[in-house]
Amino acid sequence: MDYTGIASVTFVATDLGEARRYLSDWGLARARTGRRELRGETRSGSTVIVVAAGSGEGAGFREVIYGVATAAQRDAIAAELARDRQVLRDDGGTVRTVDDCGFPIGFRVWKPRRSKSRPAPTRWNAPAARSRIDREAVAFGEGAQPGQIGHIVFAVNDVARAEAFYRDRLGFWLSDRYVGGAGVFLRWARRSEHHNVFFLKSRSGRDELHHLAFEVDSVHEVFGGGLAFSRAGWKTQIGPGRHPISSAYFWYFVNPMGGAFEYFCDPDYVTERWKPRNFRVNRFSEWHLPAGLPTASDGHARPSLATARAIEAEAAARASAR
Ligand SMILES: [Fe+2]
Repeated sequence: MDYTGIASVTFVATDLGEARRYLSDWGLARARTGRRELRGETRSGSTVIVVAAGSGEGAGFREVIYGVATAAQRDAIAAELARDRQVLRDDGGTVRTVDDCGFPIGFRVWKPRRSKSRPAPTRWNAPAARSRIDREAVAFGEGAQPGQIGHIVFAVNDVARAEAFYRDRLGFWLSDRYVGGAGVFLRWARRSEHHNVFFLKSRSGRDELHHLAFEVDSVHEVFGGGLAFSRAGWKTQIGPGRHPISSAYFWYFVNPMGGAFEYFCDPDYVTERWKPRNFRVNRFSEWHLPAGLPTASDGHARPSLATARAIEAEAAARASAR
């Protein structure tokens, strides 16, 4: 099976205005927007869809749609799953059902876009390898521009059941595991990022979305994007920090529509040669900050743009007085 990525994830929001600001500040490009629905896209075209809650409905995760390469593959998945559950097909060619944990999932033919033009990724300078010459590194003061949705994570009561469904019925691959049903990292292809779906043991007793993760180009973009998102008023859930499993740098933010959104960069990319491991202890982080980085209002003295401009203005005034 050739999965092409996460085509879309849909949330229900009780406050569409807040959801619009959240997606826009996150760095998603605004796509088609209606009175009751809005959409934000990564550079690859992975889409976050937000629909307005009906009366009495709460905010939350609604569904995830995986992309596949061909209609024949989509139809093969639909036929396989229709053996023991209802599978619906809409006019747009998406087939929908639920997984064994009860999460709404779907499949459609979808190809990620090649990245649109943006600043060239930072070239790194090391003592013995100067590859960025006469150029500053890329800065992200305006915020991140997520490249793609890299993975989705669910907290579930029965991790083994989730693993069996995704591996046996959908053909996903095992990357790593926590022993005793504490968690399982899966990927959708033999060769892929370390994990595209991760199930961890629920602490709340509910099966629910844990987070949705957006891959960015570099650690500069994780930190710069996270700082910009914080300045826009959004709350850190945890981070920034670094995962020992998958090697990625991360920063998680509370999502008012449920779960968290994560910026991450530089994940391990693994192949059929990768040997899955069984972890006995929690290896969530190599290091992390619990609640974000201080932003400019923290009272630390730092050169300000206003000061720099005042100095320049003074110098210009002196020069013209001569
Ligand atoms: Fe993650």
